[in-house]
Parts: sequence; structure tokens; C-alpha cells
Amino acid sequence: MDATEWDTRYRLAREARAGEAGRLWSAVPAQIVQDTVSPFTPGRALDLAAGDGRNAIWLAGHGWTVTAVDFSAEAIGQAGAHSAEAGVAVDWQVGDATTWDPAGEGFDLITVVYLHLPEPGLRSVLARAAGWLSPGGHLVVLGHDRANLDTGAPGPTNPDILYTPELLRSSIDPASLGACRVVRCETVRRDLATDPEGPRDGAGATFALDTLLVVDA
Ligand SMILES: C[S@@+](CC[C@H](N)C(=O)[O-])C[C@H]1O[C@@H](n2cnc3c(N)ncnc32)[C@H](O)[C@@H]1O
Repeated sequence: MDATEWDTRYRLAREARAGEAGRLWSAVPAQIVQDTVSPFTPGRALDLAAGDGRNAIWLAGHGWTVTAVDFSAEAIGQAGAHSAEAGVAVDWQVGDATTWDPAGEGFDLITVVYLHLPEPGLRSVLARAAGWLSPGGHLVVLGHDRANLDTGAPGPTNPDILYTPELLRSSIDPASLGACRVVRCETVRRDLATDPEGPRDGAGATFALDTLLVVDA
């Protein structure tokens, strides 16, 4: 989907007042994102493909100074409204994750959550993001695993844009990693009974399968 198609999707969700207060996604991050990020000491964070803002707003509410980027101007507009309602400040930017550049800034945390691109684009985004980590920083990537197709849980159905641990691990080029290391790279089970997105995931499935990558600098 291009930016115009995402704009339409977010606008229709707002107009239909679907989900929580017109949101396309849940108001808080997936539990695995919360659990993974909570032990980290807050600093400067970047949320790439931020959507309508749940991850960035949650991070800002937990002490992080957050820049958030999405190529959907509609999503970023909604995210700005949500952060104002939540009383937190986020630097919202409309930008394409495949070309956006932080202009020399480093980050203590970079999150990339459910960004599904054809393989060359995803590889490029992750390799570039890993290069923006400050010493001691963390890159957290979560997306639908290809094995999710067999669970009956909702999510993209095109296997070419789904994740596998092998794909994510090989996207992080060891030659350019320097002192970075992959600390987690695995398929994780998301319990739909307890996950924030779960009640809306429905469709009879009890769990979904995601891929999680964590890189430490
Ligand atoms: C499934 S949503 C996830 C949003 C958010 N990360 C979350 O977890 O709620 C995918 C998001 O990726 C954005 N996106 C897709 N391709 C992009 C690109 N090339 N650059 C920036 N954003 C992109 C879409 O606009 C959409 O908001």
C-alpha cells in the first residue's frame, strides 16, 4: 500500500469511529513491545512507521523524547491529536521510512512495529536504522511472522511482505554492525485474549505469531 492508500484507510477509520475512539489500531502498544522496551533507560527514541501513534505516545508517556515518522499525513495528523489528548509531546514527521534521514542524530531506542514492505525495502530500512543507534541503544522490530498465515489470526496475507527470523537477522549486516549485536531474533506468540489488539483481532483465532528482533548497540 502506498501513502495515499494508507491515508484513505486511516481517514475511513476516523470517519467510522471504528475501534477505540476512531483509531485504526489499539491505543497502546502490543504487550511484547511494552515488555521488551520497559527495562530500557529512557532517552531519545525514534518510532519508524508510527501510524496513528500508539507506540510513540506510550514511549513519550514513559519518559522518552520521541521522534515519530510515517508516510501517511492522515495518520500523523491523527497521531498529533491523540498525543495532545494524552498530554505528551512527540516530534511527529511525515516521511518515507525508506528515505527519511535523522540528519546525524543518534537514538537510544528505535522501534519499527508492523512495517511490512517488500524485502529489499525492509532490509534497507533496518540496516539504516541500526546505523542510527547511539552507543548502548536498542533497535526493536516487530511484525507479523510468515507462520501467522496458519493461525487464522488477522494480518497481511501476502507472504512476500511477512517476516521470518531469518529475514530479520540477515537484514542486519554484520559487517556494518560494529559493536552491535542481535540479542533476540525469534518467532513470538501473541495471545489474543490479553494483547491490546486482541479483542479486535477476533476471527476465532486465540493467538497470532509475530517475529521479534532486538539489536543492542
Ligand atoms: C500496520 S501499520 C503500523 C503502525 C504502527 N507502527 C503501530 O504499530 O500501530 C503500518 C504503518 O506503516 C506505514 N508505512 C508503510 N510504508 C511506509 C513507508 N515506506 N514509510 C513510512 N511509513 C510507512 C503506514 O502508513 C502505516 O501507518
